[in-house]
Amino acid sequence: MDSTRRHGQAPGDVTGETNGQHAELFWERHYRARRAWDARANPLLTETAAPLRPGAALDLGCGAGGDTLWLARRGWHVTAVDISTTAVVRVRERARDLGVADRVVAEHHDLARSFPDGEFDLVSAHYFHTPFPLLRDRVLRTAAHALRPGGLLLVVDHGSTAPWSWNQDPDVRYPTPAEIAAGLGLDPARWSVLRSDTPSRRATGPAGESATVIDHVLVVRRATEAE
Ligand SMILES: C[S@@+](CC[C@H](N)C(=O)[O-])C[C@H]1O[C@@H](n2cnc3c(N)ncnc32)[C@H](O)[C@@H]1O
Repeated sequence: MDSTRRHGQAPGDVTGETNGQHAELFWERHYRARRAWDARANPLLTETAAPLRPGAALDLGCGAGGDTLWLARRGWHVTAVDISTTAVVRVRERARDLGVADRVVAEHHDLARSFPDGEFDLVSAHYFHTPFPLLRDRVLRTAAHALRPGGLLLVVDHGSTAPWSWNQDPDVRYPTPAEIAAGLGLDPARWSVLRSDTPSRRATGPAGESATVIDHVLVVRRATEAE
């Protein structure tokens, strides 16, 4: 079973198209209702990318764009994609405000249906969770294949639910790093797992509240031609 479907909130008999419309509407409402556009970068993104030489990055499900903007301000050329048009437009506007519009391409994609063009040194999928059916393993596998030789795929999933999360479903079950890796089904001769763990950290919510949260982290590297 696809990892995201483990969330168990999938509408029953919807067709692919109807499901896509439901998903788009759900996330569009989510971002339209957002009053404060907190665009902080995720700590595991900054930790992973800080030592890397800036290149081309892809932010899957970019949301408010904190990771995209952090990368662009450090010289990365970033393709940011999301199913919410509001989020995409907002990321574009913020990139312009911050003077990094020339390094950010924000595109609307339902990743169940389309995937951005290009090859990347870093692909980040941070909390790429949705309550709708999505062949997430397939999206992440496509992302791994879009890596340049030596490039990294960073997948960070929730391991616990923060009190301020949009998803308070008590039955939610997030895939472990090992399950994410297994779902990718990558050739171990061409892709290696650099990191697979479940660190915890103190996190601050939008209203300033704090809680300890667990992340599920997987970092996969594509081999270079010489390896
Ligand atoms: C939990 S949010 C995480 C946002 C951001 N990466 C972060 O770390 O804050 C999940 C994001 O995935 C996006 N998303 C959900 N389903 C998608 C799909 N099928 N195609 C593209 N984006 C999708 C949502 O719009 C949302 O921005």
